[in-house]
Amino acid sequence: MAIVLGIESSCDETSASVCIDGEIVSNIIANQTIHEQYGGVVPELASRVHQQNIIPAVHQAIAQAKINKKDIDAVAFTRGPGLLGSLLVGTSFAKAFALANEIPLIEVNHMQAHILAHFIPNQHEGNPNKKPEFPFLCLTVSGGHTQIVLVKDYFDMEVVGETLDDAAGEAFDKTAKILNLPYPGGPLIDKYAREGNPDKYKFPEPQISDLNFSFSGLKTSILYFIRDHVKENPNFVEENMADICASIQQRIVSILLNKFKKAAKLYNVKDVAIAGGVSANSGLRNALTELAQKQGWNVFIPKFEFCTDNAGMIAIAGYHKYLKQDFVGQDVAPLARMGM
Ligand code: KG4
Ligand code: ZN
Repeated sequence: MAIVLGIESSCDETSASVCIDGEIVSNIIANQTIHEQYGGVVPELASRVHQQNIIPAVHQAIAQAKINKKDIDAVAFTRGPGLLGSLLVGTSFAKAFALANEIPLIEVNHMQAHILAHFIPNQHEGNPNKKPEFPFLCLTVSGGHTQIVLVKDYFDMEVVGETLDDAAGEAFDKTAKILNLPYPGGPLIDKYAREGNPDKYKFPEPQISDLNFSFSGLKTSILYFIRDHVKENPNFVEENMADICASIQQRIVSILLNKFKKAAKLYNVKDVAIAGGVSANSGLRNALTELAQKQGWNVFIPKFEFCTDNAGMIAIAGYHKYLKQDFVGQDVAPLARMGM
């Protein structure tokens, strides 16, 4: 039996999870609400709140797993990419925990972990063991990244397309800010969009070569669109919130899926997946499911709790490294930037 404790602290969620033989038996996520008032994550505040939350989160994860601290075989932590101050808290905790309990330490790449969340069992209704087969293509969309990844094996991944400027999550959050919605705006755009007409307003689709993305032009066009309409009607946004959100969401989703479709053809894959915080978006989930049916793809969409940042994905990635005995020493340091 192998028990791995996972620790995630790369941005503004402090999370701890226990993985027993490949099953996630606890996944405690402490959200930080302090950043709402600033319209974005304030790195210094994030690391201080991680310091407050990390020990209670670990205690809770261990208690919920109904295990003893002494039963844990290894501790896995997010080494990067992320905010350095935030990563330092999780890394330092994991190193101390490994040292005190005389167990190995496992480093995990946050972007790989978002994808490896698909190997957590019981995510697909009707078939608890359904998981993507290598090689598959994953669209990873979060607050910091937008990538099309060719996944050849658990830890053999190649980024074949990525954003040249803003990430998809930033596109949601920054346009939400233009609409005076609080941070993070992605889930709110999703909520309003459910009631709106996605064809009401037309926003441009950028013409970018290869499998890359760009969202900064869309953001600017939305900014001008709102500014011009508000000049004529100061209540334009409030009166048309649902239609505006639905139209923005539809455009972001079409930008993502048009490139994803191109990539799936190019790499000739049958299994496709989405990962990262934006994969919680209902418009993206529905559009991808529909596209997959048309294209004959097997589609993998994670459970909501494994879309946004969580330690479950770190624990499952750590478990697969544990099986390979892939450990790191106490001299390991976090990395704000970390390639695949
Ligand atoms: O993966 P994640 O939790 O953190 C990063 O690693 O960045 O992603 C956070 C991002 C935020 O930009 C947030 O607005 C977005 O995911 N997000 C959503 C939804 N839920 C979270 N965007 C659109 N619709 C959602 N339902
Ligand atoms: Zn993330």
